[in-house]
Amino acid sequence: MMNHAAITGWGSYSPTRILSNHDLEELVDTSDAWIRTRTGIGERRVAAPDETTSSMGVIAARRALERAELLPREIDLVICASTTPDHLLPATACLIQQQLGCTQAGAFDLNAACSGFIYGLAVASQFIQGGAARRVLLVSSETLTRFVNWQDRSTCVLFGDGAGAVVLEATPHCEGVLSVALGSRGDIERMLVIEAGGSALPASADTVARKAHYMKMRGNEVFKMAVRNMAQTAKEALAKANLTLPELTAVIPHQANLRILTATQEALDLPAEKMFINVDRHGNTGAASIALAMGEFLDSRPVQVGDHFLLVAFGGGLTWGACVLRWADIAAIVRRRAQKLSA
Ligand SMILES: CC(C)(COP(=O)(O)OP(=O)(O)OC[C@H]1O[C@@H](n2cnc3c(N)ncnc32)[C@H](O)[C@@H]1OP(=O)(O)O)[C@@H](O)C(=O)NCCC(=O)NCCS
Repeated sequence: MMNHAAITGWGSYSPTRILSNHDLEELVDTSDAWIRTRTGIGERRVAAPDETTSSMGVIAARRALERAELLPREIDLVICASTTPDHLLPATACLIQQQLGCTQAGAFDLNAACSGFIYGLAVASQFIQGGAARRVLLVSSETLTRFVNWQDRSTCVLFGDGAGAVVLEATPHCEGVLSVALGSRGDIERMLVIEAGGSALPASADTVARKAHYMKMRGNEVFKMAVRNMAQTAKEALAKANLTLPELTAVIPHQANLRILTATQEALDLPAEKMFINVDRHGNTGAASIALAMGEFLDSRPVQVGDHFLLVAFGGGLTWGACVLRWADIAAIVRRRAQKLSA
């Protein structure tokens, strides 16, 4: 019998330091009005000097494990989706595995930029469906504010830090991840890049002087690509799940900016109230954004078994993807788990 992969735990973490648009007015030639009108962002969170992608991910992951009523050693695989790892080596997932004590788990990183959480759900659910893992911890964490040039007003106003995590678990019922659609197109036009620090352009005094370790973006082109591909990939995932838009309880999109979200919602002909939006308080938190938004959604309202959610993202790479979830009967999964243990 084929397994499905259901979310049984979730958690998120946002750093305490808030950077408002008015704070940014002190740093670059911008205004609260410009940022709000063009992006919908009012404030974002910034990691403290001693916080990293792994340390934020660990807090979110502990919360997800607690909610799933699981111990770290019961996890078979840790995946960390991030564009801003602690180091090139070791993988951030390994640092998270170690700090949590997931002693029975494999661990690896996944880089699909802002689509990382969707790609992570795709990988995690395949591990579970194929029987190679029973429980996967998927952590999405970003410290994007360390990779923006604080003198470049076209990017530094957009990004924030944070982490989200989910536990995915095998279930024999048709619930959890119902479908995934993924897409990519190598960014040879260099629309959204961090040029230096890899094998193509190793770190040197010159790369540092040229600020080549910071993110560069041609926002206008990214904007158009994002709207087109988010709408298309959302439709693909829905069709694969045999569902229609009216059957969705909510759409939880990557929080890139409000104009992208509104344009996507209009392209899908979706009522505004079905889109969950928190970009105003977090900015764009990359791979972490959907997991953070989903955590806020789930913590703020009751969700029924059988509710359907569409998650959709676009990001650097370029990458895009969407996932349809059917909310699982978590209590039944936890009960079956306990029965197996006592048998
Ligand atoms: C970045 C973005 C907000 C810029 O908005 P835009 O309407 O495209 O603006 P433009 O880039 O055309 O710039 C318009 C003007 O505003 C200026 N500008 C850019 N950033 C500014 C800021 N923070 N404050 C004030 N002015 C700014 C530009 O310099 C330009 O000035 P000019 O006309 O004198 O040359 C928008 O392109 C965007 O949201 N892109 C997608 C970004 C994104 O979400 N990427 C991640 C995807 S995962």
